[in-house]
Amino acid sequence: MSELKKDPLVQELVDSYGDWFLEHPEDAKGMTGKLYPFKTMFSPININRTKIKNRIVMAPMGNLQMCEESGRPNEKMIQYFTERAKGGCGLLTTGLVPISHGIDPTVSEPGGLSYFPRIDKTRTNLVGWRDLASSVHAYDSKIFIQLTPGLGRVGAPLCLPNELKFPVSASFNKNFYIPAIPCIRLSDGKLNKIIKNGAQAALDAQCQGIDGVYLHGHEGYLLEQMTNPAFNRRKLGKYSDPYRFGVDLVKAIRENVGPHYPIMYRIDLSLALNETYENIENMDTLKKYTKGRTVNETLKFMEALVKAGVDCFDVDLGCYDNWWLPHPPAGMPAGCFKSVSQAAVDYFRSNNIKTNTGGDVVIVAVGKLGFPDLAEEVLKDNMADMVMLGRQLLADPYWPEK
Ligand SMILES: Cc1cc2nc3c(=O)[nH]c(=O)nc-3n(C[C@H](O)[C@H](O)[C@H](O)COP(=O)(O)O)c2cc1C
Repeated sequence: MSELKKDPLVQELVDSYGDWFLEHPEDAKGMTGKLYPFKTMFSPININRTKIKNRIVMAPMGNLQMCEESGRPNEKMIQYFTERAKGGCGLLTTGLVPISHGIDPTVSEPGGLSYFPRIDKTRTNLVGWRDLASSVHAYDSKIFIQLTPGLGRVGAPLCLPNELKFPVSASFNKNFYIPAIPCIRLSDGKLNKIIKNGAQAALDAQCQGIDGVYLHGHEGYLLEQMTNPAFNRRKLGKYSDPYRFGVDLVKAIRENVGPHYPIMYRIDLSLALNETYENIENMDTLKKYTKGRTVNETLKFMEALVKAGVDCFDVDLGCYDNWWLPHPPAGMPAGCFKSVSQAAVDYFRSNNIKTNTGGDVVIVAVGKLGFPDLAEEVLKDNMADMVMLGRQLLADPYWPEK
């Protein structure tokens, strides 16, 4: 049996997580203001040609049910984001917005309805995005839309009883929730259509005043299923090159939106499966997924994505099959992925890799960063260019103001 690939950085991190909350009660309080007035955090930064007034990014968090059944963003969604704009967050990002209706059956509801917001189909839907953008612009925040090629193997398999459709994936992977249900391998034609939809969605977002697009390439969703050899084990066709789908999607978007519109990409540096499971090779549901990208391979892939047109990344670790990791619970330390963003910063800076418009690739850190001194330190020490907050901004939209 071949030796499992394990990354020393990932292994060290995973092994270090555990009892942070119990062992470091003082750190866990953490709302200290030693570095007040947090000069770096409140300095502006450019993503491509777009100026963001501070370094705080609101993490994407699914806007399920924040839309009409057609997919038009509703008043609740506008109020939710406007509140965070009022609270002072420089860059907001929406939760995932699928671009694969009619292709990935797990993203749609019976009858062609939607519980995800949509940026396709009708002009009414498009105008909802304009309302959202203009509302947050009133408070000088910017907003990016998170586009997702779909859920693939991690989508709820309700499509099978409801519509007699199997879920889909890059290869014949088992469905995450009910492994007895196989996912059908997507054809090149359907994947081309998703890319076309993505390019159109990006152009529509741009036309409606949304400030940038953000691709949902982490955590083992369909974009990662296509771009990670753990899940993409295709032998035939152009997408048997596991990086091709991601690169082609970015190129198609860039072609549609022109050189200066921000493109952000969310990626995990590693699925960390080999590092989190001791016996993965003998586990029925996971043994096929041991050949994921190593950290170095991911960095090379990110470089290819920059060449294709990406301006900015946020980086984490893990996927559905070790769900705790990308949604760090109490036992994981605050700033748990700061050395992960540091690895990305170091790679791009030491190799002098620039974006297509000649700027630095902006790297965003995520993972329990809602402690002001810690967030400032991560920025000051060049471990990242921006900090992304999820649950903190969910709990307190006014965290930046405070
Ligand atoms: C309620 C909730 C919904 C989420 N939805 C998404 C999503 O739509 N897209 C995505 O990429 N990540 C999603 N995430 C992950 C977050 O963006 C973020 O990476 C994670 O919560 C870690 O950041 P935090 O420690 O600041 O909360 C979600 C997280 C939460 C808590």
